[in-house]
Amino acid sequence: MSDKDRSLGRSVEKIYSFYSPFYDLVFGKMLQPGRELAFSYLNEKPHQKILDIGVGTGITFDLYPEQSYVVGIDICPKMIERAKKRAAILSNGHQISLYVMDACSLEFEDESFDGVISPYVITTVRDPLKLCQEMYRVCKTDGQIIIVNHSKSSGGLCSKLEKWLSPLFIRAGFVTDLDVIELVASTEIQVQKAIDCNTFNLHKVIVGVKNKSIKGIPLAKH
Ligand SMILES: C[S@@+](CC[C@H](N)C(=O)[O-])C[C@H]1O[C@@H](n2cnc3c(N)ncnc32)[C@H](O)[C@@H]1O
Repeated sequence: MSDKDRSLGRSVEKIYSFYSPFYDLVFGKMLQPGRELAFSYLNEKPHQKILDIGVGTGITFDLYPEQSYVVGIDICPKMIERAKKRAAILSNGHQISLYVMDACSLEFEDESFDGVISPYVITTVRDPLKLCQEMYRVCKTDGQIIIVNHSKSSGGLCSKLEKWLSPLFIRAGFVTDLDVIELVASTEIQVQKAIDCNTFNLHKVIVGVKNKSIKGIPLAKH
């Protein structure tokens, strides 16, 4: 990791340490429809091993299919502390392991997980392309890769606002001018669906799969 990457990682960590005590209050309900929609696409089989990237306070734990083996990682130790407290009081049969780790440099073997999910993280990381490549690498063949995020607007006033306000949002810990759908589709992840969610359809649930044999599925909007 370069010095620049390290210092970017530290500033994201600082921002989310600051948010950690009131994260659920501010971003809990507001972003919940997108989380719920994303998890509704997750294979319902029990006993799957799922990686939750940027797990934050563990706000997604209730949404997993019964008896999942959840591995959550986050760059911010304060977030992981909160997620651990939440995991300790859950009683829905999940097995949960939590680690402080950089999403752009995952310390897991290739093909370790049945599915990988990452709500509201890709625009907060220092290298979104590397994040997608890491999600793909650690996911088993035919496993699901699900991302929820804002994706740059295609034009009009929203797009201009996103550009103007971008420096402000960077200070708040995320970027608004990244075309997440285009980025994910440019990787080896096969994007199956991109569905609008949350207030004003501001965010997208991107449902993808790791399928080494199929190339270039056309992106279908649902
Ligand atoms: C907007 S929060 C999303 C939290 C949670 N997934 C949710 O649904 O609310 C973004 C999270 O990503 C984490 N994060 C940012 N950059 C990261 C990185 N490079 N590696 C791991 N986690 C990262 C932050 O610490 C923060 O907890």
